[in-house]
Amino acid sequence: MCGIYGFIGEGKVEELINGLKKLEYRGYDSAGIAFAKDGTLVVEKHTGKVDELRDFISNDLKDKIRAGIAHTRWATHGVPNDVNAHPQTDCTNKIAVVHNGIIENFSALRAQLQAEGHKFTSQTDTEVVAHLVEKYFEGDLLEAVRKAILDLEGTYAIGVLHADVEDEIIFARKKSPLVLTADGERSFCASDVTPLLSKNREVVFLEDGQIARLKAGTFEIFESSGKKVQPTSKYIEWSEKDAEKGGYKHFMLKEIHEEPRVLSDALVGRIKDDEVYLKELEGWEDYLKSVDKINVIACGTSYHAGLVFKYFFESLRPFNIEVEVSSEYRYRNVLIDDKTLTVAISQSGETADTLESVRLVKSRGGKVLAISNVVGSTLTREADKTIYINAGPEISVASTKAYIGQLVVLYLLALYLEKINGHDHKEIVQNVSKLPQLADNFIISSADKIENAAEKYVGYSNFMYIGRGINFPSALEGALKLKEISYTNAVGYQAGELKHGPIALLDEKFPVMAIAVDDKLREKMISNILETKARNAHVVAILTKGDESTAKIVDDAIFLPQLPDYLYPFLIGTTFQLFAYHVANGRNLNIDMPRNLAKSVTVE
Ligand code: G6P
Repeated sequence: MCGIYGFIGEGKVEELINGLKKLEYRGYDSAGIAFAKDGTLVVEKHTGKVDELRDFISNDLKDKIRAGIAHTRWATHGVPNDVNAHPQTDCTNKIAVVHNGIIENFSALRAQLQAEGHKFTSQTDTEVVAHLVEKYFEGDLLEAVRKAILDLEGTYAIGVLHADVEDEIIFARKKSPLVLTADGERSFCASDVTPLLSKNREVVFLEDGQIARLKAGTFEIFESSGKKVQPTSKYIEWSEKDAEKGGYKHFMLKEIHEEPRVLSDALVGRIKDDEVYLKELEGWEDYLKSVDKINVIACGTSYHAGLVFKYFFESLRPFNIEVEVSSEYRYRNVLIDDKTLTVAISQSGETADTLESVRLVKSRGGKVLAISNVVGSTLTREADKTIYINAGPEISVASTKAYIGQLVVLYLLALYLEKINGHDHKEIVQNVSKLPQLADNFIISSADKIENAAEKYVGYSNFMYIGRGINFPSALEGALKLKEISYTNAVGYQAGELKHGPIALLDEKFPVMAIAVDDKLREKMISNILETKARNAHVVAILTKGDESTAKIVDDAIFLPQLPDYLYPFLIGTTFQLFAYHVANGRNLNIDMPRNLAKSVTVE
């Protein structure tokens, strides 16, 4: 949530804009940059997206600068406008600060600083940081930032530039990520790795409480006490190309088309001779044998992946699994004992509520397994063990390929737990290993048909998704996708719940997306479809190839191949992503950056 980028060393103003562009998916209410020119601080900021800022400063783009900091915002404190955009500055107009996170004690600090004579211009919590640095600055910028952060409560990743301090910029973090790298002549810091991939893929993740001092080509890291620490670097496998659109109109469409590759990368090295191997779980064999309860915590799309996991695992053997959204879990008084395994699912590994839930579990002595896509993210550093989904960077705000990657890794986890406990599911493992090919065939044969079906529904303001059993979470996820990117009022329900209320909504203007594939609950689903048809709702049904009798009673049918029940969520996931994409595209919306949303929600 919000993007930070900064560099020091010979460069152009344009470099700041290019860095921000790669972070824009983290927030896009407003954008701004700051740099020093002949001892004067230059701040350019603007409401709207990074391209608007680029146009606004088009004459300055080629100007050479020695250092700069930049920010793209997802507003928390203060409406998105030019004044509240970052960087924020101090009274002397020498210090610029960019910030991600929330300073919880900002009101008290603001009052105190105002009493000391500081003048505030914005409504943001961030501005207090600029004034605190001003207050403590006596020639040493690192020391001033170190003292300032000691006064802060809450979460932050900050970047600080001082017009009179030519040869360094300072960054600091608490619970909001920052990553550093250097390429010999310049040093860079960003809130995630994407803008750094073209610089040097050997990066250092700043730890909570640490401060980084960047000079041209080098950086040093300090504890909040001022003690210098030795950084440990990590190599990021993702390439710069992975984070580009590659000819697709939107990142979302590109990422959906990557799903067969994602499935294959998530499976590689993890299935051999029809058995699952998860080397990430080595050393946990005895513990996993003793586990009698799994708590899954996650938000948004990751939560839906967790729900599918629950249905899949229960189909293998009765097991005690609870799946809860992190923002609820963290305030509950959940029983965690040494036989409980907590699985935290987060594409970004930076979702604040999921991290707080993990901290709660760990404070009670529980063990946490992370399922994440981002190497070195906070979740992966705080969890006991991590299984990566290896999906590559997901840029579109609405999660697509990461969801499919999470599903397959969760299936592997379930099958691995079964193996550890002596339960053999060779046929299921074989079927899971065929998923990449299955997904590839499906996208090739069905993408156009899904597009044609979606085009008919561009004009509707409401949509109801229904499913049962393992396909119920797909209904939730399908509705979430549609509302996220097309702003349709889309809701997901267990089909059996229809008659307990939701059916009252239905009429000819409220279409239904029904999942009625050939599984053990198909007959029940057909009854539900008939109920919705009786209320004049238009029905789009997801059916298994050959089900002509059901196709006749619905308005539109999308066919999937005949599959074992547990594989349907994969193809249904892709179907709903494409459906949502084409509805939103038909409305000409900004699909990769939907209004009011951000990719990683690092505030509570
Ligand atoms: C945000 C994103 C969603 C995502 C959710 C959880 O709301 O817009 O697409 O599903 O966060 O993110 P995580 O990174 O924890 O999976």
